[in-house]
Amino acid sequence: MKLKHVIQAAQFERSWLEEEFFPEVRGMEGVVEKGGADILYGKHMITFFYEPSTRTRCSFEIAMSMLGGKVVFSTENARQFSSVAKGETIEDTIRVLCRYRPDVIVLRTDEEGMAQRAAQVSSVPIINAGDGAGEHPTQALLDLYTIQKEIGRIAGISIAMVGDLAKGRTVRSLSFLLAKFPDVKIYFVSPENLRMRDDVKNHLAEHGVWFKEEGDLREVAPKVDVVYQTRTQRERGSLVERMQALKGSYIVDKDILSLMRKNAIIMHPLPRNEEISPEVDDDPRAAYFRQAENGLYVRMALLKMLLT
Ligand code: CP
Repeated sequence: MKLKHVIQAAQFERSWLEEEFFPEVRGMEGVVEKGGADILYGKHMITFFYEPSTRTRCSFEIAMSMLGGKVVFSTENARQFSSVAKGETIEDTIRVLCRYRPDVIVLRTDEEGMAQRAAQVSSVPIINAGDGAGEHPTQALLDLYTIQKEIGRIAGISIAMVGDLAKGRTVRSLSFLLAKFPDVKIYFVSPENLRMRDDVKNHLAEHGVWFKEEGDLREVAPKVDVVYQTRTQRERGSLVERMQALKGSYIVDKDILSLMRKNAIIMHPLPRNEEISPEVDDDPRAAYFRQAENGLYVRMALLKMLLT
């Protein structure tokens, strides 16, 4: 499978993930260890972000630099610091950026579907770095790699996705990717008003993936290999007060740790707010900072596979 654009998690095949992508990612861990390479020398990347980012933009830019390429333009507030502020459409913006000869555009938007619209008019690869409440496929790739590395397998795992499942894009993309592996069990743990959307649940049902909606993490924590915690998406109108009122059922703290299996892990796409208590950070099962590091290796591998 030759990559063109990276738009949605469902586009990847299991065989490609396991036989081509993961070995490439592991290779990138070695490249970083050695201080970099010049595989992408002469290649140019634009990172065009409509929403704030630390991990995604920074790790993509460092990934490009580690491989000898250049970041030629970068903004993380396109609505203010680009001609989007003057009303330019995503289609026109991409058409013009392509004329300046980048080799790849990494795009984060604040509306679902914009990455797909960008890809339709782009002459260079578009990487969806998050499109509103839609998808975050490169996050899902690094999440999957983290599960493989930490647990040693993906097939047959049980995972609890916790928190704001209605507006969080990382849990959507991860669900689409996990649906490619056999015998995966997914518990969606959230208050009633923040349930996973129907398109994901319908996709899982169509692909025979076991899932269950639950309302209390204390019930689910002892049953899973992975607790995948998420942040309340305030910027998309989710009410944090609602989560705080239900704190006991959704916050990962020492009590939840005491219920978890000894070899289970806690993941979080980060940034976190109150949903993981800092007292958990020193426990070896807290995998979220290792998970963020994997983002560098995963994005290096993706850039190499797209551009060479
Ligand atoms: N996980 C993630 O997408 O983080 P950033 O918003 O910092 O990029």
